[in-house]
Amino acid sequence: MDVNKRTIQTYNKIASNYCKATRVSKFIEWEKEYIRKLIFYISISKPLILDVGCGDGRHCKIIEEENDGKAIGIDLSKSMLEEAKKYYPKGKFQLMDMRRLNFDNNYFDGIWISGCIYHIPKSEINVLVKEFKRVLKNNGVISLNFKLGTGEGLEENPKSYPGSPRYFAYYSKNEMVKIFNKFGFEELESTNFPEKIFDDKIQQMWFRLKKK
Ligand SMILES: C[S@@+](CC[C@H](N)C(=O)[O-])C[C@H]1O[C@@H](n2cnc3c(N)ncnc32)[C@H](O)[C@@H]1O
Repeated sequence: MDVNKRTIQTYNKIASNYCKATRVSKFIEWEKEYIRKLIFYISISKPLILDVGCGDGRHCKIIEEENDGKAIGIDLSKSMLEEAKKYYPKGKFQLMDMRRLNFDNNYFDGIWISGCIYHIPKSEINVLVKEFKRVLKNNGVISLNFKLGTGEGLEENPKSYPGSPRYFAYYSKNEMVKIFNKFGFEELESTNFPEKIFDDKIQQMWFRLKKK
């Protein structure tokens, strides 16, 4: 079975509660700063940004309403997209698998992918980064976050979402740098989400794509 499919079944089930929980302001304060930084690094007027695994759509709203950007959010969970459309009716959202992006080559100025890369098994990470390279313009910038650690597998949070496993793949910062370097992405900056916000250690990174 595609373990990502199991994860999407879970998001379809927990969407409403999950979105309520992620909209709390303690996350948003940091996310806003990291999105602002992505737009700063892109440094063109009205950059077009792909929000991968957009979930509740709050980041698309921040990109468009608090910054200079235009956003397209994609997600593979129908229920998450319904939440996104309710939360940000003006937003552009599409049902799509991040491993198979239905966009032309060199289409986006930037990519934002938050809380999402770890839902793909490590055996497929190259497929994913290759897709990001394809749809991103030369000199485009990607900002991503992921959980620091080792290993991968289906995990359940019995307290918040009993009976609803999701797949998590953990990386070290060096591992992630190596993967992105292989596809022509150069590291611009990296930082950690303040530890008091999450139980896990979360790494946030910005890379610029240099197409040869
Ligand atoms: C932890 S949530 C993060 C949502 C949002 N980006 C945020 O930061 O709040 C992960 C999201 O990734 C989506 N997702 C998981 N696998 C995906 C895939 N293969 N393609 C597109 N979206 C996917 C899920 O449906 C879910 O909305």
